[in-house]
Amino acid sequence: MLTEAEQEISNARPNTVDHASVSDLHYIGNYKRALPTNMARMIENAYDWEHLPYVHASSFAGIDLIDCGDWGWRAKIGLHGGGYQLLDLLVDKARDYWVSTVFAGPGKGIQIHTQASHLSDDEIEVDVRFYIPEPLDDPAMTTQLHAHLADQYRQLYDEDIDLMSGRQSALDDLKRWRAGENDEALILVGDAETLDRTKANMVETETGRFCVRFWNETWIAHSAVCPHLLGPLGDSEIGPNGEITCPWHGYKFDLATGENIGGDCKALATAPRVEVRDGRVYLRVEG
Ligand code: FES
Ligand SMILES: [Fe+2]
Repeated sequence: MLTEAEQEISNARPNTVDHASVSDLHYIGNYKRALPTNMARMIENAYDWEHLPYVHASSFAGIDLIDCGDWGWRAKIGLHGGGYQLLDLLVDKARDYWVSTVFAGPGKGIQIHTQASHLSDDEIEVDVRFYIPEPLDDPAMTTQLHAHLADQYRQLYDEDIDLMSGRQSALDDLKRWRAGENDEALILVGDAETLDRTKANMVETETGRFCVRFWNETWIAHSAVCPHLLGPLGDSEIGPNGEITCPWHGYKFDLATGENIGGDCKALATAPRVEVRDGRVYLRVEG
């Protein structure tokens, strides 16, 4: 929840990138790297405020959205070490450019300008440039701050690579599954005695990827692909109420019904029926 004063400063924030503003700021250094992803996934990641406390749990403890749109997003962010920041991220999509500004809390006034550039179909480069409102008195402090920010961004991008490439391969899979010939088929998952009962056994069919698990003394199957943004559900443990949680944005699904708990997105894709015959576990894929 925002206080009245926080709401007021949020309302006063602009929603467009002001490229000229950097001339009034003090540049302290950058962090540049190539990333094995394409521009679409990168821009999507910049807009994706919801993944912060899940994919970047090492930096962020929680997030409350204030507002979002085609322009970007603004939020109150709980920091891993305690405290919070008000931050917005404005996107200039036409230029593959975005700016995040801390406008309250620790680091207030820091602006981070990112220019992404296309290198090839599956590689881009980001140039992350750090600015503060005024030069610091002690040059050693500036060096330290730059090193700290560069480290933080190295870690954030390390964490984002899995999300971005995971999502691209999930999109490629969807395309393949949609194009597939879906004749009815019985797909062998494995021997009931030797299949691992403590984890999700992954099976890819022509209609999708599914997790086959032993739960409540029986074999069940559920979609391995989160219906929100295609996050991977195979690593999720089953919670005490029979729910699984997506690692990307924390959406929860009821295993028994496939419904999303909380109504943030649609239900899991229907999984094929599980059949156990002669000690073997199969999925029956309907044509
Ligand atoms: S991809 Fe967003 S919650 Fe699963
Ligand atoms: Fe991220």
